[in-house]
Amino acid sequence: MKETFKAVKVTDNVWWVGAIDWAVRDFHGYSTGRGTTYNAYLVMADKITLIDTVKAPFKNELLARIASVVEPGKIDYIISNHAEMDHTGCLPGVIEAVKPEKVFASAMGAKALAEHFGVDLQITTVKDGEKLSLGNLNVSFVETRMCHWPDSMVTYLHEDELLFSQDAFGMHLASYERFADEIDETVLDVEAAKYYANILLPLSTFVAKTLDKAVGLGVPFSIIAPDHGPIWRAEPGRIIESYARWAGQERTNKAIVVYDTMWGSTAMMARAIGEGLADGGASVKLMPMGSSHRSDVATEILDAGAMLVGSPTINNTLFPTLADVLTYLKGLKPKGLVGAAFGSFGWSGEAVKDITAYLNDMEVELVGEPVKVKYVPDAATLAECRQLGKMVAKRLGDM
Ligand code: FEO
Repeated sequence: MKETFKAVKVTDNVWWVGAIDWAVRDFHGYSTGRGTTYNAYLVMADKITLIDTVKAPFKNELLARIASVVEPGKIDYIISNHAEMDHTGCLPGVIEAVKPEKVFASAMGAKALAEHFGVDLQITTVKDGEKLSLGNLNVSFVETRMCHWPDSMVTYLHEDELLFSQDAFGMHLASYERFADEIDETVLDVEAAKYYANILLPLSTFVAKTLDKAVGLGVPFSIIAPDHGPIWRAEPGRIIESYARWAGQERTNKAIVVYDTMWGSTAMMARAIGEGLADGGASVKLMPMGSSHRSDVATEILDAGAMLVGSPTINNTLFPTLADVLTYLKGLKPKGLVGAAFGSFGWSGEAVKDITAYLNDMEVELVGEPVKVKYVPDAATLAECRQLGKMVAKRLGDM
């Protein structure tokens, strides 16, 4: 190995040995403007144990960080908490390099790994609640199905009160600072919310159950070590509280106006609606899709109360940027929104009908009548848009 990488000490027993991906900008449709980390952890127990691995191209970085603590061939156990490729892409290669005595995963994890790699990795399956002795230290496994995949589980290291939480409580943020208390709180809040909105929002029911299960364990959490982003060691309760709030999908008086435009007409309507919303007391954000990313809209939706959507009609349907963001948002299953549709057209005008169908599918409560305009809005139409904004703001105020 030409490059050298160092492990970072987390506790007297645990080292971070993951990889930092400064370059990644797209994570299955989610824009990762600050990169990410793939976290893996080395537990220096009598039975030396590696918790998770990293994305395939980062195998050498992982092995080099391990080697800064212990010769990788001395690893006895590998625990795979989650089968997604960002944590297991190099697992077969690491098994080959390390030749561990045992590799542990949930039963669904073992199945997912076999289906991904098409080879028998000789996984030892563990059950929900099962405890494993590492000699002088002990871990327990807790299944967290659908947080993020059906196979997901977390591993709790009793002696350090440390939860290896895999995807949960993570964020996509590349940094050399390994601990949340070393990073600007504003960055943490933004990136943790973006991660929840884009990865976990559709699984909020499972997140709520998982939180209940974790609290029900009756064990203290001094440290939460996720598989992405910084480790929570000084106030781990802070991120748990945020998750409880986001899983509850608490709504605010924020209104998001999501739109695109061909010749400026739908943009004019969006601005008039925005003025009406603000007049009515809503906190307003306009998101023109020509310059907004779908995953940033998802982040704004996390606590918004209203979503108003506008599109011109092109070739008898929605503008493609609106089809993209609405398809993405529908999959994220936000609950409890109110909203409205609007748009301009030249001769047929199907876009508003198509938007309305999406909003109905998403169980968005529609306020007022949609506003449609042929070619260019006149003063009366813009007044109608402004009025629609006021009506939505009033509905938000009444909630
Ligand atoms: Fe970070 Fe679901 O993988």
